[in-house]
This record gives sequence, C-alpha cells and structure tokens, in this order.
Amino acid sequence: MSEKRVTFASKIGVVAAAAGSAVGLGNIWRFPSQTADGGGAIFILVYIGCILFFGIPLMVSEFMVGRASRANTAGAYHKLAPGTQWKWVGRLGVLTGFVIMGFYMVVCGWTLIYIFQSISGHLAGVTDFSSNFIDLQTNPAKQIVWMTIFTLLTAFFILSGVKKGIEQSAKILMPLLFLLLIVLAIRSITLDGAAEGIRFLFKPDMSHVKSTLFLDAMGQAFFSLSLGMGCMITYGSYFNKRTPLVKTAIQVSVLDTLVAVLAGVVIFPAAFALTANPGTIVGELVAGGPGLLFITLPELFNQMPGSMIWSTLFFCLLALAALTSTISLMEVVTLYIHEEYQVSRKNSTLIVTAGVIILGISASFSSSFFNFLDVASAKFMLPIGGFFISLFVGWHLDRKLVYAQLTNERTLKFGIGFLRTYIFLLRYVVPTAVLAIFIYGLAA
Ligand code: TRP
Repeated sequence: MSEKRVTFASKIGVVAAAAGSAVGLGNIWRFPSQTADGGGAIFILVYIGCILFFGIPLMVSEFMVGRASRANTAGAYHKLAPGTQWKWVGRLGVLTGFVIMGFYMVVCGWTLIYIFQSISGHLAGVTDFSSNFIDLQTNPAKQIVWMTIFTLLTAFFILSGVKKGIEQSAKILMPLLFLLLIVLAIRSITLDGAAEGIRFLFKPDMSHVKSTLFLDAMGQAFFSLSLGMGCMITYGSYFNKRTPLVKTAIQVSVLDTLVAVLAGVVIFPAAFALTANPGTIVGELVAGGPGLLFITLPELFNQMPGSMIWSTLFFCLLALAALTSTISLMEVVTLYIHEEYQVSRKNSTLIVTAGVIILGISASFSSSFFNFLDVASAKFMLPIGGFFISLFVGWHLDRKLVYAQLTNERTLKFGIGFLRTYIFLLRYVVPTAVLAIFIYGLAA
C-alpha cells in the first residue's frame, strides 16, 4: 500500500493544503473569542510564544512521522514502533478528530446560515445582531439541518480524492480570503472609536490576566495549527521526499498566525466602535464568546456600502476555509478506519459521517455539550497528544532517521547545532512546558 500512496503534486500545493487545514474557523471564529476571554494583547503574546516554542517544532515532528511512515495516524505508530503501546497516541488522535468535528461542524452550519441570511437580504435589515444570533443558537432544528449539509459536503470531498479536492480548492481560496480580511481590517480600524479596540489587541493590560491564560493560549495554538491529533501526520504522509519540513512548518505557522491576528484586527476595533455601551465592552465581549464573529461582523458590513455583497462574499470564503479544515479532520479519521480495519474508503467515509452527525446533533441541542467538546479537545486531548508526539520523536525515533527527515537525506543544509537544538526542544523543553501548563491550568 505504501508505494501506491498519492503525493501532493506541487510545492505550492503542499503549503496550501497544510495551510488550508490550519486556517479555518479556529482563526476567524475561535481566536477572537479566546482573545476576548483571555484579556486581549496579553493572550496574543502568550499565544505567539506557544506557536514559536511548541507549535513549529511539533508541526515539523508530525510531518516527519507522517512522511517516514507513509501511513495514517495510528498506522504510523505501528510502522515506526511496532509492537509497542505508542499506537494509543494515534488512536487518541482519531478520537480527538471526532470530538472536534462534533462541534466544528455546528459552527460550519452557522456560516452556511449566514450565507443565506446575506443573500436573502435578511442580514442587511437586522438591527439587533446579538438577538439574531441568539435566535439561531436556540433553534436546534435549523442548526442540525445545516450542520448535516456541511458534514455531507465534507464527505463528498473526501470521496472525490485527495488531490482534486483539497489541493485545488485551497490554492485559490486562501489568498482570496486573506485579501478580503485586509479590506475589512481597513474598514474596521477607520471606524470612529476603533482606537480602543486596537489598544485592547496590542497593549497588554495585566488587570485582565486569568489563571488559565497559559492553558487557553496553548490550547488555541494547538487547535489553530491543527496539531496534537495527527492531522499533520496524515498530511505529512502525502509529502514527497523533497518537501522541506522545517520551511513548510514555518510558512504554515506564519500564515496561520497572520490570518488569526488579522481576524482580530477586523473584529475588535469594530466591536469597540459599534457596541452601544463602551463602559462594559470587555465584559460584553467575553459574554459574546462564541457569537462574537457572528454578531460583530454583520454589524461591520452594515457600515459599508453594498453590505450584502461583502457579507455574502465573506461568509462564502469562511465556509470554504472551514471546509478545507473539515476535510483534513475527516481525512484523518476516514483513513484510519480505511487502512486499519480494511474497510473500503467509501464505507469508512459513511461510518465517519454518521458518527459526526450524531455528535453534531447533540451539540446543536445543548450548548454545554458543545462547550464540553470544544474544551475537551482543545485544552485536554490536543495538548496530551502533542506531549506524546514530542516524546515519540524526541526519545523513540532513531536520531539518524530524524536528521535524515529534517535534511531530506542531507540535501538541505542545516548546522549540527540546529539539529541538536531541535532534538533538545522535543526531548525536554516541549514536553515539560506542555505538561507544566496543563497541570497549572487544571489546578487554577
Ligand atoms: N486548525 C483548524 C482551524 O483553525 C481546525 C483543525 C483542522 C484542527 N484540523 C485540525 C484542529 C486538527 C486540531 C487538530 O480551524
């Protein structure tokens, strides 16, 4: 099976597909609500620290495990560590994929609903955007219908094949989304009263620091970079032997962080400028939580000429960015069932689709179950997965294999100091830091 595996066609396709997985609702929906909750600038600083210290080294590690094994997340451990218990790390990853999809698809459904509210002109006529969103959140039937449609759409792409489905869409859509965010950011920061929002985003204010700051920021970093469940292992398994792992990980992380911060620059100035009562704005932002994007953005569009076109375009691109992420999530779980249990690709996709829809229905009925899935994955399962992946690469994998992967069999020049630093990070720094933050966050 390993020889027949397809690989991504081009260099740009590699970055685009991995970035397509990373960039999604995590950046544009979850990042702003976590930033509001975490106190603004201080959260962003810790978040960026997490990207640099754990994110990039771990992404390189996942790519490496994938390319060295050319197998799905769980199969990768069978191949690189046969007969050991490491396979549980892979299985944990597959389970995590399910848990994430369980609530992620619900939010994907919201984006579809907002596309139709935009096209029909409904959004342009709304005066109270928070009750518009609350109406939606308290309507399980509507959420279930659109969540199911989105899940089926994802399944369709999974069945239509890796190259066509993932690569092509990501290559065109990511740049377009990026451009649109820049336009929106300019509109947002030129609103009257936007300055407060900029200050909230970029000037650290220690009075908002929460005791779970580090765990929240770390969880968001894992979530946003698609790390800790083997998603990047699956993508790494499609890399060819010339794909530079370190460079690709840096490019993907930089792009992902830019999109998240840009989304913040769109949302916060607008939220500060457009909210009626600036005195309690921070409290309102935190309370707005999961709805922030769906409340503030339509409000911003209504400040722009041609609001209908902007909001339609934005929610379409957002849905497509989300789709490249759900494809990556579903791919991990589908490939696992397909390769490990000798189930056909089609049946495996059907099983996964049914499972996700069941979870999604539960999450649509209960916002506390929704939150449970979110917290369980981002703050527990992904960091635990990341912890074990770093131990696996740092301690279990043969150092020669690690060096060969990093340097593409010595065709890339890295100093020995760099290679040693990488191993040192994965052996000691990443696992200790992840564990410390995890325990501290739980105790807090
Ligand atoms: N990173 C994606 C986002 O930001 C979501 C995602 C896709 C993900 N694959 C993942 C999160 C794997 C964690 C693990 O929207």
